[in-house]
Amino acid sequence: MTASDGTEPPDMREYYAARAPEYDQVYAKPERQQDLRAIEAWLPGRFIGRRLIEIACGTGYWTRFLAPAASELLATDAAPQTLEIARRRVRSPSVQFVVADAYRLPTRAGAFSGAFAGFWLSHVPRQRLAAFLDDLHARLAPGARVVFLDNRFVAGSSTPISEEDAFGNTYQQRRLGDGSSHRVLKNFPSEAELTQAIGGAGIRLRHHAWQHYWALEYLVS
Ligand SMILES: C[S@@+](CC[C@H](N)C(=O)[O-])C[C@H]1O[C@@H](n2cnc3c(N)ncnc32)[C@H](O)[C@@H]1O
Repeated sequence: MTASDGTEPPDMREYYAARAPEYDQVYAKPERQQDLRAIEAWLPGRFIGRRLIEIACGTGYWTRFLAPAASELLATDAAPQTLEIARRRVRSPSVQFVVADAYRLPTRAGAFSGAFAGFWLSHVPRQRLAAFLDDLHARLAPGARVVFLDNRFVAGSSTPISEEDAFGNTYQQRRLGDGSSHRVLKNFPSEAELTQAIGGAGIRLRHHAWQHYWALEYLVS
């Protein structure tokens, strides 16, 4: 592992725009199927009747499970390429898709009673995590439910860590179908780190673990 001090974390938007057409292959890994079925059954029930914002919805894999549960759903992502796939996948009058930067959400304070982000928190640089969470919480009403879903590192299934920077962010070197190689910031925060980052902003925190995934759910205080 090598340290890379002082370098800007890579912008994930470009990578995911290029990856959009092949993104869903990650959901076809045979060893993850059992976990995925369990999470697909568990997740929608967290948001029944809630006004939900989804951060970094990507190709809409989770949006389609959330849509029938939420009363309305604003699904956001910074890459128009992934949103285009999501729009085709989820056609529901209660779902709106919007191109939006997760760090500058175009919504008013207290507008939502739920927030979900799948496989996004692991891409937030550690030094930006507190500001990201503060900004998200400000968009949510008291009592809003938040769920973050993400990967656990599983040797043999996860892409190996190639690097760690001065902030403790870890990186993977990923290859796309066109042969291009991308340095991707991907963190694997512990339950304790997550709990500390949420701090007093959340109550009734629950950490869930499957073999390949974790989820953190809490209510905004
Ligand atoms: C790992 S994918 C997760 C997609 C989807 N949530 C899922 O679970 O399948 C990360 C997503 O973050 C989006 N993204 C990257 N940078 C972003 C940013 N600054 N703001 C919002 N979305 C961003 C990418 O376009 C990509 O769709």
